[in-house]
Amino acid sequence: MLNAIILAAGKGTRLKSRLPKVLHPLFGKPLLQRVCEALEPLGVDQGFFIVGHGREQVQKALDTWQIPFKCHFITQEPQLGTGHALLQVKLYREHSSGLQVSDLPNLHGTTLILSGDVPLLRTDSLQTLANTHLAQGNDLTLMVADLGNPTGYGRVVLQGGRILKIVEERDATPQERDIRLVNAGIYCAVWERIEPLLDRLSANNAQQEFYLTDLVALASQAGLKIGFVQLDDPQEMTGVNSREELALCHEILNCRTQSRLMRDGVTILDPRTTMIGPEVQIGLDTVILPGCFLQGDVQIGEQAEIGPNTTLMGPIRIGKNSKVVQSYLKNVSMGEDVLIGPFAHLRDGAVLSHHVRIGNFVEVKNARIDHHSNAAHLCYLGDAALGSEVNMGAGSITANYDPIRDTKHETIIGDGVKVGCNAVLVAPVQIHERACVAAGSVITQDVAPWDLAIARPRQTAIPDWVKRISEEASAGGTFA
Ligand code: UD1
Ligand code: CA
Repeated sequence: MLNAIILAAGKGTRLKSRLPKVLHPLFGKPLLQRVCEALEPLGVDQGFFIVGHGREQVQKALDTWQIPFKCHFITQEPQLGTGHALLQVKLYREHSSGLQVSDLPNLHGTTLILSGDVPLLRTDSLQTLANTHLAQGNDLTLMVADLGNPTGYGRVVLQGGRILKIVEERDATPQERDIRLVNAGIYCAVWERIEPLLDRLSANNAQQEFYLTDLVALASQAGLKIGFVQLDDPQEMTGVNSREELALCHEILNCRTQSRLMRDGVTILDPRTTMIGPEVQIGLDTVILPGCFLQGDVQIGEQAEIGPNTTLMGPIRIGKNSKVVQSYLKNVSMGEDVLIGPFAHLRDGAVLSHHVRIGNFVEVKNARIDHHSNAAHLCYLGDAALGSEVNMGAGSITANYDPIRDTKHETIIGDGVKVGCNAVLVAPVQIHERACVAAGSVITQDVAPWDLAIARPRQTAIPDWVKRISEEASAGGTFA
């Protein structure tokens, strides 16, 4: 049985935020969710989440993430430190003796203990920690790292190659502060061995908190077997305690992702001005131009070209050979050989087939557009379904919104329809296949196949009007 205890009750004081720390997004996903995702492939059976600050919010968020293992929520109130957080697991188990036997959380054996604020941690590193713990037959195994700059982290004090204790920076002597080996805050333990030690933690330290790290010295004194695993890539343990560290995590994750993509045959012209989230997938020979921001479930095919200065917010699907220039896209899917932009805005369920062209200052929202259709300039297409080979003239729009009843209506445009410039299609309305709408028309009724619909006043000419007025003006000196 593999258990995980995730500490997520802290306020995150240094972050100065109304949002609980572990819910701060890193490339769109909360820190805690990223930690859970690192745990999932390990085959965790049950997770104990210590919640406190912003408890309802954190619990509600967790409920929506579809975590594949059983989750227990344990409230820590007030939050008196990481050791106090762990103590709540013990108290929770003792207090739940009133519960049905079947509901009793059965916690024993291998237990991973980690914070909800270490989002860069890899599954492989956790696996190595658990494997080493089991292989060495330890009671407690720590994850440690050798940091060039150990500032802020607990220092690992060794004696004869074995861990003696951990000292927090604020309690460390100047000599101890020089130690570069730090505590990653990630542990693997045999729960029933460390549980009895939890009552013996005290808050006799600089922060007047119960430190989980004091458990190491207690375990050592109790003669438990303690081991450690050193992280190959110390960046993985970066915790988010401040906005600077949140920015640092974005930087590290961005670098990781771009390296992966470049190794897989993607050209990124200027990595420094490009930000790509870890979920993004990009095909061979696709080029990302400077100034792009890609986040979430984004999948781009081969030989595409994105940018410059383009934002793609997932879910996004972009087919082979398509180009998106200087545009903003959110929740969009498109086939092959599509051209978007410059300066287009596609959002909320825009679904484009292949060979579609969406040009400058065109907004597309919740609309399906079939192959070889164009909206090349200045259009709004909202709540619409366009067939193939449709041409939307410059400035033509679907008037989808009824502001009086606050409802939206659909516009359906058949295959081969041509809509003239500045036409307004007042939804709900249907333009049947091959029909044509004259420029400047306001269309309020359906148009039959092959018809031409004109809905605007006829042009009238007033002969010589300009001449007459000009002559009157020069005779009278002024226009009356
Ligand atoms: C902790 C370790 C430090 C280690 C570092 C690695 C302690 C005392 N120190 O310091 O040795 O180098 O992590 O990142 O453990 N939390 C609670 N309840 C509390 C306090 C905190 O649930 O009462 C949670 C926080 O939400 C957070 C985690 O515990 O997710 C760690 O707390 P934090 O205050 O960030 O500890 P650090 O100062 O980073
Ligand atoms: Ca921390």
